[in-house]
Amino acid sequence: MSDQYALRSHSPEETRLAGGRLAAELEPGSVVSFHGDLGTGKTCMIQGVCQALHVDDYVTSPTFILINEYAGALRGAPIDIYHFDLYRLFSAAELEDLGAEEYFYGQGICLIEWPERASELLPASCLKVALEHAGPEERLITVRRPPTQ
Ligand SMILES: Nc1ncnc2c1ncn2[C@@H]1O[C@H](COP(=O)(O)OP(=O)(O)O)[C@@H](O)[C@H]1O
Ligand SMILES: [Mg+2]
Repeated sequence: MSDQYALRSHSPEETRLAGGRLAAELEPGSVVSFHGDLGTGKTCMIQGVCQALHVDDYVTSPTFILINEYAGALRGAPIDIYHFDLYRLFSAAELEDLGAEEYFYGQGICLIEWPERASELLPASCLKVALEHAGPEERLITVRRPPTQ
């Protein structure tokens, strides 16, 4: 069954809360893609996910490298979190060379900004979050879970 929900955020705090709600739906091996233009709040929502997963580091988009790695906890068990920002990715092959598939099919949690750059490498089970501008401070956030067999 495939399911989906949408919500509206009116502040960065609300977007972080949406990230916290999403975190509660994750499990080891979850991959989440965050779609949306620059400034829609992808990093902000990922900060909320990471906060809910007890990450102590300051969460910011990876810039010179494509991946930031954080140590978190999920329901009391330690979990590795991989935050990708593929904005500057040249090709999917470049990501493959970095061994990304080991992350995407591993036991950590992958949170991916600009996933379009490597869509063919993402697992079919990938959760899709779409963020859209709906006003200066308002964002429409849609979370879509793919059908399960
Ligand atoms: N409702 C909202 N949710 C998230 N960010 C918002 C919201 N309203 C305004 N903003 C602002 O939009 C920007 C979002 O930045 P960021 O999370 O880095 O976006 P992205 O990673 O999608 O480029 C921040 O400057 C934030 O303060
Ligand atoms: Mg960002």
